[in-house]
Amino acid sequence: MKPILVTGGAGYIGSHAVKELIKSGRKVVVVDNLSAGHKGAVPEGVDFEQADTRDYDKMRDILEKYQPSAVMHFAAFLAVGESVEKPIEYYDNNLVGVLRLLTAMRDTGVKQFIFSSTAAVYGQPENIPVTEKESLKPESPYGQSKLAVEQMLPWVERAYGINYTVLRYFNAAGADKDGEIGLDNENATNLIPKAIYSLLHNGSIEIFGTDYDTPDGTGVRDYIHVSDLATAHIKALERLENGGKSDIFNLGTGKGTSVKEIISAVEKASGKKLDVKISSRRAGDPAKVWADSSKAQSELGWSPKYTNIEEIVATSWNWHSTHPDGYKS
Ligand SMILES: NC(=O)c1ccc[n+]([C@@H]2O[C@H](COP(=O)([O-])OP(=O)(O)OC[C@H]3O[C@@H](n4cnc5c(N)ncnc54)[C@H](O)[C@@H]3O)[C@@H](O)[C@H]2O)c1
Repeated sequence: MKPILVTGGAGYIGSHAVKELIKSGRKVVVVDNLSAGHKGAVPEGVDFEQADTRDYDKMRDILEKYQPSAVMHFAAFLAVGESVEKPIEYYDNNLVGVLRLLTAMRDTGVKQFIFSSTAAVYGQPENIPVTEKESLKPESPYGQSKLAVEQMLPWVERAYGINYTVLRYFNAAGADKDGEIGLDNENATNLIPKAIYSLLHNGSIEIFGTDYDTPDGTGVRDYIHVSDLATAHIKALERLENGGKSDIFNLGTGKGTSVKEIISAVEKASGKKLDVKISSRRAGDPAKVWADSSKAQSELGWSPKYTNIEEIVATSWNWHSTHPDGYKS
């Protein structure tokens, strides 16, 4: 059986996908430059290549060596705010990185590609819940870099026969229920890890805006468990393998949770009180966003197992509290 190549497989979501792939009986090769990932996140016995997706020669060598049947591409930079400060670095990693990888795939005959996209391609959506038909108006180089790849893929398919599935994640959250893997990134900009790191380091957490038109005045987002994202990748892979056509799917729970609800969930899971500071709204933050994932449910046969935010947050707390220093490698 040919392996599945996972770029960014030493990172947060990629490592959960690797775990799910192995559970489903697949062979896996992880490619990661370890800019944000950790060797310790890659299970013993899984082939690991430390390489950068922008390095065409290296990627071609790796694809020739392992001859994977498909590539799952997680490797990217992903901090929205930072992307505004460093657009060139973001386009370079998120766009050029994909170009080089797809070139190496074309030149070695790898025909299936699963791409990590994001709800940031929608910008400030007008219709909630957000379907895949919502207009695409990213408000950052990060969202724009992902949309540019999405728009490139149909042409790449047409010319070179590389089939693809684009998965647009809403807010990834939680950690592996067995506590083996989780997020290890103190610079993470997502609310749940920020709140937990703040608890672990006796810091404070800032809420941006308490005057939104939402039930408790704070911003509302859709938090999807990282293991549910991982299982969606397996479903997407199986669908491509069974001849399913290239397509785009939202991945979310379809439920909105407010910033204040997340903070309560973190306090409940940890049994500790957070030091919360209230600040004004950040430019460009929509009041509320949650997904309509019915297309993924009907066409991938996928649905999220974790729909309770307290349970999702508890898996994060379990990981962080048992790994206060992360992977240590
Ligand atoms: N975390 C979220 O909430 C979220 C939401 C929507 C989309 N996404 C997308 O999911 C993907 C994975 O995100 P994550 O949260 O796991 O982030 P992460 O930083 O934990 O993982 C990314 C991994 O890619 C590696 N990497 C980065 N650039 C690379 C390169 N050029 N070559 C090789 N390796 C490289 C990093 O070392 C890291 O291990 C990203 O594409 C991101 O845009 C994440």
